[in-house]
Amino acid sequence: MTDGTPVHITRQHTDVDTAEALANDVRAGLSGAQKTLPPKWFYDAVGSELFEQITRLPEYYPTRREREVLERHGADIAQQTRAQTLVELGSGSSEKTRLLLDALTFEGTIRRYVPVDVSDSALIAAAEACAGEYPRLEVHGVVADFVTHLEVLPSGPARLVAFLGGTIGNFEPAARADFLSRIASTLRPGDAFLLGTDLVKDVDRLVRAYDDAAGVTAAFNLNVLAVVNRELGADFDLDAFAHEARWDAENAWIEMHLRSLREQTVHVKALDLDLHFAEGETLRTEISAKFTRDRVAAEYAAAGLRLAAWWTDSAGDYALSLAVPG
Ligand code: SAH
Ligand code: TRP
Repeated sequence: MTDGTPVHITRQHTDVDTAEALANDVRAGLSGAQKTLPPKWFYDAVGSELFEQITRLPEYYPTRREREVLERHGADIAQQTRAQTLVELGSGSSEKTRLLLDALTFEGTIRRYVPVDVSDSALIAAAEACAGEYPRLEVHGVVADFVTHLEVLPSGPARLVAFLGGTIGNFEPAARADFLSRIASTLRPGDAFLLGTDLVKDVDRLVRAYDDAAGVTAAFNLNVLAVVNRELGADFDLDAFAHEARWDAENAWIEMHLRSLREQTVHVKALDLDLHFAEGETLRTEISAKFTRDRVAAEYAAAGLRLAAWWTDSAGDYALSLAVPG
C-alpha cells in the first residue's frame, strides 16, 4: 500500500433491499401487542451524528469507560492477539478503535482494518479518516448488517473481530446467543473476539445514561420515527411521542420506548398501513442489556467460546473481554 490509496468500500445491500427490510420490520414490529422496532434503524446520517453527541454527554459513561480500558490494556490486547486483520462490527466513527490500531501498529502485526456498519455515512467518513491517519494500513469498509451478513467477514490468518460500544446489549437474549454462536463458528484457531460490555450498576446512573438532561438521547430515539417517515412515507408526528428509559431489573436491561402522548393513527403510505396508538401506548425501540463477568463467561461457553481475558476500567463500570474458539 502507498500513501493516498483510495479506501475500498463494499456494500452488501442496495437501497431497495434496505427499504424492503425496513418495510418488513415496520409490518412485523408494529402489529404486535408491544410495538417494537429493531435498533439499527436509528442510524441514518442524522442518527449517527446524534449518537456521536451521546458519546460526549456527561451522563453517558460507557464510551469514556471503554476508552479508558483500551488505553490501559490496548498493549495487552495486541500482545495476546497479534492480529493481522482487525474486523470491527458496528464501528460507527471508529474513534476508540484508533487505540487498538495504535497498539497493533506498535506490535507490528496489523495489516488490514475492516470496519463494518449499516450506517454508510458514518462508515465512509471513518474509513477515510483511518486510511489517512494510518497510511500503511489497508482499510476495507463494509456497509452491511452484522446480523445478516456475518458470513462475509474477510478470511485470512490472525483476525481479531471487535464488537465495541456495548452494542451486544442491544440484542435480545436469544438473538445474542445465536450471534455469539455464529461468531464462534467463523473464528479459526489464532483468531479472537474482543467484546465491550456495560456492567450492572447503580440504577440511577444507568437510567440517566439513557435519559440525559440535554435531551440528546430523546432526539436520537425520536429520530427513528423521522427515518420511517422519510423511507416509507409515514406521517409520524414527532411531537406526539415522548422518550422514555426504564430499568428492567429482572432482565438486567435498560428499555427505551417512545410513548404516544395521545390516541392517534399513523399512516404508512408505502405499506398502505394504518398504525393505531392508544394514549400512553409505547413503541419499544431498544434494549441495552448490562452484564456481569459470570454472565459473559457463561454466554461464551454456551456459544463454544472461551473467555481468555477480562479487563475493566478503574471504576469497574465497563468491561472488555477477549474470547477464543473454545
Ligand atoms: N462502536 C461505536 C458505535 C456504537 S453505536 C462506539 O463504540 O462508539 C452502534 C453502531 O452499530 C452504530 O454505528 C450503528 O450504525 C451500528 N449498527 C447497529 N445495528 C447494526 C447492524 N445490525 N449491522 C451493522 N451495524 C449496526
Ligand atoms: N449501543 C448503545 C448502548 O446500548 C446504543 C445507545 C446508547 C442507544 N444510547 C442510546 C440506543 C439511546 C437508543 C437510545 O448504550
